[in-house]
Amino acid sequence: MELTPATAAERGLLQTEQLYEYILKTSVYPREPELLKEIRDLSSSHPQAFIATAPDAGQFMAMILKLINAKKTIEIGVFTGYSLLLTALTIPDDGKITAIDIDRSTYDRIGLPVVKKAGLTHKINFIESPALLVLEQLLRDPENHESFDFAFVDADKNNYANYHEKLLKLLKPGGIIMYDNTLWGGTVAMDEEFVPPGRLETRVHAMDLNRKLAADSRVEISQLPLGDGLTMCRRL
Ligand SMILES: C[S@@+](CC[C@H](N)C(=O)[O-])C[C@H]1O[C@@H](n2cnc3c(N)ncnc32)[C@H](O)[C@@H]1O
Repeated sequence: MELTPATAAERGLLQTEQLYEYILKTSVYPREPELLKEIRDLSSSHPQAFIATAPDAGQFMAMILKLINAKKTIEIGVFTGYSLLLTALTIPDDGKITAIDIDRSTYDRIGLPVVKKAGLTHKINFIESPALLVLEQLLRDPENHESFDFAFVDADKNNYANYHEKLLKLLKPGGIIMYDNTLWGGTVAMDEEFVPPGRLETRVHAMDLNRKLAADSRVEISQLPLGDGLTMCRRL
C-alpha cells in the first residue's frame, strides 16, 4: 500500500512526521495483518479518519492482549473497527469482545464486511448504546463482576473517570484497562492560553483523570506517549 505522509494529528506527540513515518515503516506496517491494513485503508477516506486508533498503539495493544492471554474484553468506541478487528484477531477462538459504540453505522459500513471476511463475527457482541449505560447493565449481573481480562477505552473522553470506577468492578485482578487520548494532543501540559478553544473542556477532564489514576492505589499505571497518549492500568 502507498504511504501517504502522516498529518500532524496522525503523528500524535512525536516531534516530527519523519520520525513517526520511520516507526510505522520500520516496525508497524511490515507486521500489520492484511485485514487490518484493509480496514485502515478503507477508513482513510472517512472525514474523521484521524480519530481511528493509531497502528503503533494498536501493535502495542495486541502485544498486551497476548501477554495477559486476554479472552474476555470490552471495547468502548469502535468507529470503523480497527482496534476491534485487532482484538478479534488476537484473542483465542472462544474469546468474546463486548464492543460498544453510540452509533454503529460507520462500523457496519466499513469494518463489519472485513470482520465477516476474517470469519471473526462470533467473537464480537456489538452493543449500540452510550457506553456508561452498558457498563451499568453489565454490573447488574454479578456473573460479570471481576470477569473481564481487558478493556480499551477510546470514546466520550469526558467520562473516563466514570468508566474507570465501573471497569474496576468488571475487571479481574491483574486485568488491564487502556485509556486512549490521555495526553490530549499535548494540551495537558500547555499553559491554558495556548490551548485551542475546542480542546479546553476535554483537557480539564484528561488532567483530572491523569491525577486520579496517579493517586489510585487500586491500580498500577504506565503513561505511554503512544498515539495521543495511552495510559495502561493494571488492576491490583
Ligand atoms: C475515537 S473513536 C474510536 C476509534 C476506534 N477505537 C478505532 O479503532 O478506530 C470514538 C468512537 O466513540 C463513539 N462514541 C462517542 N461517544 C460515545 C459514548 N458515549 N458511548 C459509546 N460510544 C461513543 C463514536 O461514535 C466513535 O465511533
